[in-house]
Amino acid sequence: MKHINGGFRLSTDILEQNKKSWDKVAYHFNGKDALPSYGPFAQTEDELKLFNEIKNKKILDIGCGSGHSLRYMADKGAIELWGIDLSETQIEIARETLKDLNANLFCSPMEKDIGIPKQYFDVVYSIYAVGWTTDLAATFDLLYSYLKPGGSFIFSWDHPLYVHLRSREGQILLEGSYQEEGVVNYPNFKGEEAPVTIPTRKMSTYINELIRTGFTIEAVIESDVSSVFDSVSEEASERYYSLFKARKFPTTMIIKATR
Ligand SMILES: C[S@@+](CC[C@H](N)C(=O)[O-])C[C@H]1O[C@@H](n2cnc3c(N)ncnc32)[C@H](O)[C@@H]1O
Repeated sequence: MKHINGGFRLSTDILEQNKKSWDKVAYHFNGKDALPSYGPFAQTEDELKLFNEIKNKKILDIGCGSGHSLRYMADKGAIELWGIDLSETQIEIARETLKDLNANLFCSPMEKDIGIPKQYFDVVYSIYAVGWTTDLAATFDLLYSYLKPGGSFIFSWDHPLYVHLRSREGQILLEGSYQEEGVVNYPNFKGEEAPVTIPTRKMSTYINELIRTGFTIEAVIESDVSSVFDSVSEEASERYYSLFKARKFPTTMIIKATR
């Protein structure tokens, strides 16, 4: 994959490195970025209502992390809970979160076909995870294959422009190039020495890849600030995620598509 600062790396090397780093930082994320949240400061599922009736539905979570979104699905009456995650540590945490439920959890990259049943699921979803994929086309092809005809795929991820936005002295500035897609290496993750490589893609890449796969796009949401924050005021902030920034630009893109 093209590295934006020069050079190419194999996807397998990236996955191996990201897996190690996610194993190391997993504890920072226990229950964070989980449904009903779609992302930082973004409207929640309670506000957007993208999932239809969940009762008795078979559900697959891609990048299930600590399992809290699957727990939410169980509380809504899902009949089968399945989850995949790259990190062994995340899967262990998810097993603990879901220990009283009969969840099928697998440690695997989402890019790989590990024999998850085809045309089986009513809903496949991914909360802040699908953008980690090193192969968007292969991943969307697989996710499509898991869905029953008429089934839904719902995912959230950083708004693709958001990664380029910096807040400085009360102004929002563009850093780098939105035009240039590839991968970016970060030596640290969550303040720890845990190198990660994260792909950057344009909004149109996600949408066109869904169309190529055969999905029908039902909704594209560029998040607004959740009403939970209506009464919260905030000064200008230079943090990556802040209410100050979120009130000016969507933190999160949320897409719903059907097979
Ligand atoms: C922000 S967390 C997701 C939180 C989770 N969706 C939830 O609802 O609680 C991102 C997750 O993506 C996983 N991940 C990263 N790259 C992946 C890949 N290629 N395949 C599968 N999972 C991946 C990480 O291990 C991590 O658990």
